This record gives sequence, C-alpha cells and structure tokens, in this order.
Amino acid sequence: TLSILAITLSVPGMNSVEAEDTDSPVNWTREQVDQIELDDSNTIPYTNIKELEKMTPDYHIWDSWPLTDRNGNVTEVNGWKVLFTLSAPSDVLPGKVHDIAKIQYFVSRDGKDWELGGELFPEEDSLGSREWAGSAMMDEDEGKIYAFYTATGRKGEENLTYEQRLAMSVGDVVADKNGVHFENWDEHSIILEPDGEDYQSYEQAMENGYSGYAFRDPQWFKDTKTGKEYILFEGNSGGRVSERTCENEDVPEGSEHFNGNIGIAEVVDGDFSDLKVHSPLLEANCVNDELERPHIIVKDDKYYLFTDTHINKYAPGIEGPEGLYGFVSDTLFGGYEPLNGSGLVLANPPENPYQAYSWLVLPDLKVIAFAQFGDLNGMDINEIGHKDPEFQFEHWGGTMAPTLEIGIDGDRTEFKKELPQGWIK
Ligand code: FRU
Repeated sequence: TLSILAITLSVPGMNSVEAEDTDSPVNWTREQVDQIELDDSNTIPYTNIKELEKMTPDYHIWDSWPLTDRNGNVTEVNGWKVLFTLSAPSDVLPGKVHDIAKIQYFVSRDGKDWELGGELFPEEDSLGSREWAGSAMMDEDEGKIYAFYTATGRKGEENLTYEQRLAMSVGDVVADKNGVHFENWDEHSIILEPDGEDYQSYEQAMENGYSGYAFRDPQWFKDTKTGKEYILFEGNSGGRVSERTCENEDVPEGSEHFNGNIGIAEVVDGDFSDLKVHSPLLEANCVNDELERPHIIVKDDKYYLFTDTHINKYAPGIEGPEGLYGFVSDTLFGGYEPLNGSGLVLANPPENPYQAYSWLVLPDLKVIAFAQFGDLNGMDINEIGHKDPEFQFEHWGGTMAPTLEIGIDGDRTEFKKELPQGWIK
C-alpha cells in the first residue's frame, strides 16, 4: 500500500484458525538487506508515466492479476485473456483510491489491448467496505472461477477501518464473442483471519496505536510437485509490539515495529472452507513491515517466493528500493535463501524511485506491475498527499506499467527486457 495510506486497524477475528507449527520460519535479515545494490541486473528502465496509456479513461487501476488455470498458468477463455485489477473512478485522488477499491476485469484477445469487462462481483455481494488484492483461478472442467480477495473493513461501516480478512466466492465463467462474464456467484465467505499467534490480529495491532498491520492479498497456489493447493498471504508476525524485541542490541530503537511476514495456509482436500494455517514461510522481524502480494513460481524443481515492498517499510538503519524481492528453496516449507544474496530482484530506477509497484511474476517469467508515480524530482512520496489535486493526478500512474521479463538461474536473477505496457503472453 502506498505510504500515504496509514494502515492502522480492527476487530478481533471470528473464525480464526489455529496456526500449525511446521518448520520455524526463515528470517530475512538486516545483514542480507545491507547487501542490496542497484545495478544493471536489477534496475528497471526509466518510464515516463505521462507517455503511458490509461487502461480506461474512467478508472485508475493498480494491483493486477491474470486469470489462471488450475495449474497456475495464465489461461484463456474462448480466446480471451482476463486481467483483474483494483480500481477507483478517475477523479479520486491517488491517496484515497484504497478506501473505495473495487475489483474490475479487462479482457483481451492479444494480451495487449485490454477492454474493460466491468466489476467482477455484483454490487453489494462482496464482503468488507472495499476489495483489496487477491487472485483468480479457473477450473476448466467445472467452468468455474475461484475468486480470492481481501475484504478490507466491514460492509456499511460509518468510519473506515483497516481490518483485513481473506475472502472468496465461486462463480460461473461464461464466454461469448463479446468477451467473458462471471455469473451465478456463491455467497461470499471469509476463509481466513489472523490467529494472533503467528499472524498479528487487528486487535493486537490496534492496541499500540499505530502499528503497521496486514492480513491480505490471498494468492492461490498449487504446488505442482505434490498437487496440493495453498493460499499465500501478506501478514505481520503475531503479538503486540510491546511484547517484541529485536535480538541484537545494535538494532536501532523502533525496529521492533517492523514485523512483516509471508503466510501460508493449506487447502484441505480441495475444500476452501477448510484451510490449515501454517507458520509463516518468511519473516522480516526488525527488518521490514510489508511483504506484499507474495506468490510462488516452481521452476527447475525449486520454489521461488516473490514479494513486493516499499522504501518506507524498512526498519530504521537499513534501506532498500521500491522493488520486487525473492527467495528460493528446494522445499515449499523452510530453507528460503534470498535471491542474489540480498533478496532484491527488480528495483525502480533511482531517478524515478516510485515509478512502478506491485510486481507479479508470471510462470513464464514475465513480470506485470502498475505505473505508480512519475517524475517527482526527488520529492518524498509522503509529500504528494499535500499537493494540490491537479499535481497529484499529473504524477500518478494508475495504469499498467510496461511488462518486464526476468531470467532466473539458481539463486541469481537478472532483468532481461522491457515489453509493451500491460502485456501478458
Ligand atoms: C499493494 C497493496 C496490496 C493491497 C492493495 C490495496 O499495492 O498494498 O497489498 O491489497 O495495495 O490497495
């Protein structure tokens, strides 16, 4: 989430599921972050946001994800690719879009020219006061879409809250010569809430006044090595901040507030109402507060775990760019090592540090993202919310960024090339 969005948060979780202990989580460490260096292998080419096309004149869009099949590959329905995005009307200020976000979808024959299909869910069906990021998988035998999203806040709430719950619904996929439609949705359900042990609850986060909190971005994942299905998500390590310390005394004060993690829950016997939550795959305690939109690619028998984070989510005393980060392991649980030593995979160019965000690596190693802010000329992102609306709109992307391609070799990655805006092959 943009830094202009102060995430404070919510209400004790109903239906929370107890975390199951598997391997103890791997830590992303301050020493690893210290190895971050921008070079040709990780730095994205400069893009002038003003030269990008809007996906549609009527809406800003940001986080996006394509429809996949039940193996996790990008799929087509009658020759149509489908891309889901968070959206808000074009006249909404960039800092406010998260408060009213709704998922819309676009369809395309060539994966490049996208036409707006409309809102994913019928008005009033979804849970929460707004919809945040998720994922979408189609079971082709059933002709059904499994749509996962973050239900943020509570429906009808008078004052905006930031509680986040993982939600889903299943609907029919209908395609014709005009595109793709989704119909006949099941009643939406909450599939997971934080347990307060491995994953910080909204209540725990609230008790200490401001404390970053996340329990969002459900990403369906099938382990093609075992055939088992999982939901990955962005969380924070459990407990209240007053209960946490950073082990090493040299760590600057205040670092204990930074407790991002990547969670995982197993879908028991294909039943999404029966999720078995595990300990996090990765924790960044005293390191980083937001490990966003986590997703896994299985390649060469290895698990590549990717996540996004922001400049201002690093704990005091360490630094990293707005970027895509990654970790590799031979097993799904445990053993994750940061790619390239530091974890950094792609970084915005230093001359435009907020250029793009919310990178998602697809199985063919194309990386999609949205164009965030452009040409701020050294201005800190937190200042933009204080500028007049015209300035804000002029510098906010709200559209797809150019697609990128990366290469992966063992525990190394490299930026390969830039491709057309919003292109999904
Ligand atoms: C990433 C993100 C997601 C969240 C969404 C809210 O850009 O922070 O984690 O779902 O934005 O708009």
